[in-house]
Formats: sequence, C-alpha cells, structure tokens
Amino acid sequence: MLDALLPFHPRLVHFPIALTVIGAVFTGLGLLRRRERWISYGQLSALLGWLGVIAAIVTGLIDQSRAPQDAAVTAVINQHITAGVALLISLGLAIYWPLRNKRLFNEGSARWGYIALLILIVTLVAIEGWLGGKLVYTFGVGVK
Ligand code: HEM
Repeated sequence: MLDALLPFHPRLVHFPIALTVIGAVFTGLGLLRRRERWISYGQLSALLGWLGVIAAIVTGLIDQSRAPQDAAVTAVINQHITAGVALLISLGLAIYWPLRNKRLFNEGSARWGYIALLILIVTLVAIEGWLGGKLVYTFGVGVK
C-alpha cells in the first residue's frame, strides 16, 4: 500500500520551494522599502519553508535509496544533496540571524549582507529544483 505513495519526495518539494522564494522576496522587498509587515510575512514564510526543506530532505533520502546505481545519477544526486544542505543552512541562518540581532534590519552593512544571503537562498532553490528536474527528466529517477 505504501508503494502507491512512492515516490514521496516530488509530492512535497513544491511547498518549500514556493514558501522559501516568497519568504525571501517579501523579506527583501520589506527591507528595501522599509515595510516591517512585509518582513514579518517574509520571515514566517521562510520558517515554514525551512520546515518544508527538512521534510524534502528526509523524503529525498528515502527516495534516493530506490534510484539506479549509476555513476552519472549518483553524481547528480550528490550535487542535489549538497545544494539541499546548503539551502537548509543558509535559510536557517536567515531565520536565526534577525532573532540574534534585533537591529539587523536597520543596520546599513548588515542589512546588505542579509539581502545578499536572500539572493544566495533564491539561487540555491533554483539550482536545487534544476538538479531535481535533471534527475527526473534526464535520468528518469522515480518515474522509470
Ligand atoms: C538533500 C536531500 C535530497 C535528496 C537525497 C533528494 C533526492 C531526490 C531524488 C532521488 C529525486 C528524483 C525523484 C524521486 O525519486 O523522488 C529528486 C527530485 C527532486 N528534488 Fe530532491 N532531494 C533532496 C532534497 C531536495 C530539496 C531540499 C528540494 C527542494 C526544496 C528538492 C527538490 C527536488 C525537485 C524539484 C525534484 C524534481 C521533482 C519532479 O520533477 O517531479 N530536493 N530529489
């Protein structure tokens, strides 16, 4: 019966992708236009996105065990895992940093550092999605 639900991972990945990107865009725009409420919405979305990334990593690791043992597939899965872990860490930092430094969003240089972090996060989401798509559409992982 459980087999009917496999693969798990593609069912869950859209939530963290959307929540993370919306979180980064709202927070970034809130910082640039100095709208505190946009920043709050962005931070909430980023937190939900981070929880979703954890779920994506867990289900990805489960699905990975069923992937073909092929060197080309393994290489892309390793890149996908690296980008996924980098996303987990950088998004976690984007949530933790403002909690640690309450004045972060008002301090000039730190504010720009934070915006750079948001750009990194969106870039990692794009890379992660692209590598995941490569696994499915180039190598047929999870569909063959
Ligand atoms: C770090 C641990 C991860 C592993 C081991 C992993 C593994 C996989 C595997 C094996 C696939 C092929 C489809 C399947 O069999 O499920 C896949 C696809 C995919 N993964 Fe991951 N993944 C991980 C993390 C993530 C994260 C964090 C995201 C995004 C937040 C993500 C986004 C995707 C996407 C978009 C696809 C393509 C799905 C589709 O087009 O149907 N993965 N991943």
